[in-house]
Amino acid sequence: MTTTAPQQALVAADPERVANADRTIARMALPAEGLAVEDPSTGERIATIVDVDVDGALEAVAVADAAGRAWARTTPRQRADVLHAWYAMLIDRADELAHLIVREMGKPLAEARAEVQYAADFVRWYAEEAVRPRGDYRDAPGGGAQIVTRRSPVGLSVLITPWNFPLAMATRKIAPAIAAGNAAIVKPATLTPLTTLLAVELGRRAGIPEELVHVVTTSRSSAFSEAVLRDPRVRKVSFTGSTPVGRTLLALASEQVLRASMELGGNAPLLVFDDADLERAVEGTLAAKLRNGGQSCVGANRIYVQDGIADAFVEALAERLAGIRVGSGFGEGVQLGPLIDDRAVRSMAALTEDAVARGAELRTGGSAIAGAGHWFQPTLLDRVPSDSRIAQTEIFGPIAAVQRFSTQAEAIARANDTELGLAGYVFTESLDRALDVADRLETGIVGINQGVPSNAAAPFGGIKASGMGREGGAEGLEEYESIRYYSIARRRTR
Ligand code: SIN
Repeated sequence: MTTTAPQQALVAADPERVANADRTIARMALPAEGLAVEDPSTGERIATIVDVDVDGALEAVAVADAAGRAWARTTPRQRADVLHAWYAMLIDRADELAHLIVREMGKPLAEARAEVQYAADFVRWYAEEAVRPRGDYRDAPGGGAQIVTRRSPVGLSVLITPWNFPLAMATRKIAPAIAAGNAAIVKPATLTPLTTLLAVELGRRAGIPEELVHVVTTSRSSAFSEAVLRDPRVRKVSFTGSTPVGRTLLALASEQVLRASMELGGNAPLLVFDDADLERAVEGTLAAKLRNGGQSCVGANRIYVQDGIADAFVEALAERLAGIRVGSGFGEGVQLGPLIDDRAVRSMAALTEDAVARGAELRTGGSAIAGAGHWFQPTLLDRVPSDSRIAQTEIFGPIAAVQRFSTQAEAIARANDTELGLAGYVFTESLDRALDVADRLETGIVGINQGVPSNAAAPFGGIKASGMGREGGAEGLEEYESIRYYSIARRRTR
């Protein structure tokens, strides 16, 4: 059966909320000329930012390097106090930050508020971690020496962040970097730089030294990376973005043998077994699919549903998707905002067309929505052939692509048939099955009966070509530390 939703009417923005965001932008002392920042729900220019050239980026490196040497000598308690103050400031200004996120990125206000809390959680977590510096003591097994290990700051860190979670991806990198005693150069996506600029400004007011953290907004991404990652004062790069760009950065990082953390592409499989609780599975799938409009590395990409539950699951999911309120993130009750740009809209249309041409059944949505801004309907494709492009690419949009399976072994084999391995999901009421499947999924993260596993206290990251290193948790701090050991000679005395 093919049932597509009629062309949706978009929910309009509440003008007072737009005005709130614009008042914040007006206070940010942005330049008159430079790069345009647009609202993806209208395509309208909302701000202008400085387009830093390579010399400017290298100047920031020089200043941050000097500041980092002084910061490395501060005590863990001093660093923690600054981070606690930053956390308080982010929470105090949460509403303003959330409005800014909506204005430049487009997600619904409720999700933007959740992002602010998620982002602030990283700051609080690393304020708490900062005062528990790890190290240990061992006896050399053969005698004659004692081994003491300690951590020191890894060195000047370059942090390259994406547009999809403009605040959380910034704090997830900045907070552990400075908690461990490092300076940082932050390069936010030029599509969504405003939230990072405001967050770092608040950090300064909370006590982060002005010279320690620099936000470099630039349209010259390649020239920036080539210059700063080759600068001998830089010791670390952390990147969140696509696997192809990650590969390029890793090649550059190899020249100076930089420490690297890479949070790269995802192609998350979501497995629903016959014994799943239907309502829980549908809710979890909606959350894993529609969070951030599907524009998340951990978004459910390939939804595999077992034959016995598939019809009921698809029916329920189609009904929920067809009822989703689409519109401005500032609109009342909106659940799905715009896509980030027109290229994303064209990509959704092309993926849908290709899947349908190969035999997928379009159950709801399937089209761009007309109007200013970048819109695509919440969409459900059933019986997606595994050779269609949508089954092999990171979708990054609001299309639920369902494939069916009969046995557990088959589902696991198909789920793992990709070079990527960031997140996976399993829905079942059997604890044994949940743990068995989780053990066999080749992903760094597994959500069991839930669609949003992200948590500041957890080590977020992938395996295979989805990256290396972890963000969040105690592991996230280690990414910004070097382990050193002192070998202390021991000789018996009389
Ligand atoms: C991402 O999409 O890159 C991050 C999502 C998350 O932290 O939950």
